[in-house]
Amino acid sequence: IPVDPFDLVIFGGTGDLARRKILPGLYRRFWDGQMPPEARIIGAARSEMDEASYRAFVRDAVTEFVSKRKCDSELLDQFIERLSYVAVDARGEDGWEQLAGMMRDGVVKAYYFSVGPSLFGDIAERLHRFKIADDDARIVVEKPFGHNLETARALNATLARHFDETQIYRIDHYLGKETVQNLMAVRFGNMLFEPLWNAQYVDHIQITVAETVGVGGRGDYYDRSGAMRDMVQNHLMQLLCLTAMEPPSKFDPDAVRDEKLKVIRALEPVEPHDIVRGQYRSKDESYLVDVENKDSLTESFVAMKVHIANWRWNGTPFYLRTGKRMKERVSEIVVRFKEPPHSIFEEDTGQSANELTIRLQPNEGMDLTVTIKEPGPGGMRLIDVPLDMTFAEALGEEAADVPDAYERLIMDVIRGNQTLFMRGDEVEAAWAWTDPIINGWEAREDKPKPYEPGSTGPEEALILLHKDERRWRELRA
Ligand code: BG6
Repeated sequence: IPVDPFDLVIFGGTGDLARRKILPGLYRRFWDGQMPPEARIIGAARSEMDEASYRAFVRDAVTEFVSKRKCDSELLDQFIERLSYVAVDARGEDGWEQLAGMMRDGVVKAYYFSVGPSLFGDIAERLHRFKIADDDARIVVEKPFGHNLETARALNATLARHFDETQIYRIDHYLGKETVQNLMAVRFGNMLFEPLWNAQYVDHIQITVAETVGVGGRGDYYDRSGAMRDMVQNHLMQLLCLTAMEPPSKFDPDAVRDEKLKVIRALEPVEPHDIVRGQYRSKDESYLVDVENKDSLTESFVAMKVHIANWRWNGTPFYLRTGKRMKERVSEIVVRFKEPPHSIFEEDTGQSANELTIRLQPNEGMDLTVTIKEPGPGGMRLIDVPLDMTFAEALGEEAADVPDAYERLIMDVIRGNQTLFMRGDEVEAAWAWTDPIINGWEAREDKPKPYEPGSTGPEEALILLHKDERRWRELRA
C-alpha cells in the first residue's frame, strides 16, 4: 500500500549515509510501489550543485547499492525525476528561502538530519524561522544522539524548542531490522513463550552483536565513542528492552516505549568485575593503528553481566557482548531455559536445557533446541536437537527480500508511526545507565584487554560466564 505523497528533505544529502542507505532504500520502496509517484526527495547540502549533477549522484548510488535486477528498469528513470537539490548553509542564511519555496502544501513534510549533531540546532531553528516546517512536519535524527546524558539532554532541549516530541523520529536502525520486530511477534503473538519468559524458567539470556569489520576508515569517530557508546547504549539496549519488557497493552508508540523505558530504569548499575573491555591487537593488525591516538584506551569490545531489578527478571542475568574484528558476523539473542527440576531418566547427562535463539543476522530466523530420545534401540538416552526455522527457507523468496532497516523506518516516518523510534526520555535513561560505567573507566584509566583479531574476544569475557558456570553460545554464522 503506497504511503501518502510527501516531500522529504535530506540534509547531508550527498553524505555517506544518504548514498549507502537512505537513497537506495527510497528507491527500493519506489520499486515496490510503496512510494507514490507524487513523492519528492530534495537533497540538501552545503556544496553548490545543479539538479542534474545531484540526479547523477543518486543514480550512481542506487546502481551501486541496489541489486541489478531492480535497477534495470525505467522505474529508475522515474525515481530520478522525483529528485531535486538545494544548496543550504546550515549555519548561515543561504538557500533557506529557496528551500521554503520548494516545499508543497498538502503533502507530508519530513526532514532527515543526516548530519552531525552539532548542526541539529541550527537546522531546526532555520526550518522554523523560514516557515519551512509546519506543525505536522517530521524530523528524523540519527545517532550518535549525544555523547553522554548531559549532551543528550541538551540535544533534546534544542529540538524541543522548535518541534514537539510527536514530530521527532530518533533512528536506531536495529529497530528496523526484520527479526527485531519478529521478537515482538514471537513473544506476544504466541502463547508458547510468554508464560515461561521470566526468572522462574529462564536461566539467563545472551545478547551478542559481533562484527568482523574493524574500525578502519571511521577511526576518528569510533575512538571518541568505543563499543559502549557506539553499540551498547543504543542497539544492544534496544534488544535488551524488547527481550525483557512487559507486554505493552497495544502495539502503539507510547505503549511500547513506556514498557522499554521501564526496563532501562530497572537496570542495576554494573559492577566493574562484571564488565570486560577489549581492544583487538596482534602483530599484524591493531586497533591502535586504525585510530590516530596511539595510546588510546577506547574499547572495541565489551562484554558484561546485567541485572534487571524487577519481579520478572530477579536473579536472571542478561549477558551482553559486542565487538569489532571478531570471528564471525553474528547478531543474536539466546534465551536459555532452566533444566528440568528432576530427571526421570537414568542415562540423562543432566546437560539438557532448551535454548531459543533469535538470529538477527545473518540467516534471519529462530532456532529452538529440544531434548529428545536418541534414536535406536539403546535405551532412553537423551540428545538435544535443533528445531530450526530460517525465515527465508520457511517463507520462500519473499522473506529473503525483506526491506532493509532504513527503508522500513523511513516509510514509518511518512506514515507518522513512531513505534520503532526512540523517545527522548528513553535515550536519556540509557545514557543515565551507561554514563557511570564509562566515567568509572575514565577515572580509573581502565586498560582494555587485548584480543586477537578474528577471535571471540578477550579470554576474560569467557571467564565472565565461566565464573557463573555458563558458556557463551559459539559464534557461528
Ligand atoms: C552502527 C555503528 O550504528 O551500527 C557501527 O555505528 C556498526 O559501528 C553498525 O558497525 C552495525 O550495524 P549492522 O546493521 O551492520 O549490524
